[in-house]
Amino acid sequence: MRVGLIGGTAFGHFEGAPMTVHTPWGGAQVWEGKLGGREVVFLSRHGAGHKLPPHRINYRANVDALARAGAERVLAVNTVGSLKRELVPGSLAVCRDYIDLSARPGTFFDDEVVHVDQTEPYCPEVRGALRGAVGAGWATGAPLDVVYACTQGPRLETPAEIRMLAQHADVVGMTGYPEVALARERGLCYGAVCVVSNLAAGLQERLTAREVGEATRAAQQRLAKALEQAVAALPEKRGCACKDSLKDARLA
Ligand code: HPA
Repeated sequence: MRVGLIGGTAFGHFEGAPMTVHTPWGGAQVWEGKLGGREVVFLSRHGAGHKLPPHRINYRANVDALARAGAERVLAVNTVGSLKRELVPGSLAVCRDYIDLSARPGTFFDDEVVHVDQTEPYCPEVRGALRGAVGAGWATGAPLDVVYACTQGPRLETPAEIRMLAQHADVVGMTGYPEVALARERGLCYGAVCVVSNLAAGLQERLTAREVGEATRAAQQRLAKALEQAVAALPEKRGCACKDSLKDARLA
């Protein structure tokens, strides 16, 4: 079983030469390597040199490229702002559900009517592996399983937006959607680990991009260790229903 890894602002680099995978949505670069005793395919979400802003990322090419490179399961990393004071910067958490507030193409099926169930949007087996790895040494009592709100960006949110989001979600970021939905459409197992870089707008005095970079660098080692443990802990055979996502998705 091959595992795909999507790195973001945190966990953004992989050693060696990339390979270009061509997809109907464009090309994407991936790196092949080993992690946690398994074959992994790494993809840097923001592209070479971290140049693409969240709204310009080619999510369809990225997810399709990982599938074409043989990944069956995908572990993604998302840098987020926290909507809960107890979820302090530096924390790691695992997505259990999401709210999409972005405005981006979120399907591979533009010419067909396909409605894929999102009752359990993140793969339960990948979540379990991530939860075990992230939860080791967890001490603050903050939520470990979180609801992710995805905004369009690239601007940060207003305090009023954050007050509204905080009633329904735990973290806010700009890149978690549509990866999660696209992965399910492709029948991939997908889980996401969040790196909290800041408290969201209005919960701390001011937000700077520099702070996001600093906090993610500080969490880098813990994150890399957690990902390695999670990859190693994944069951060899997929026992979840992710691969059958299209089974009941077309109107009869
Ligand atoms: N909002 C949206 N995206 C983010 C934030 C935030 O506060 N921090 C890191 N990514």
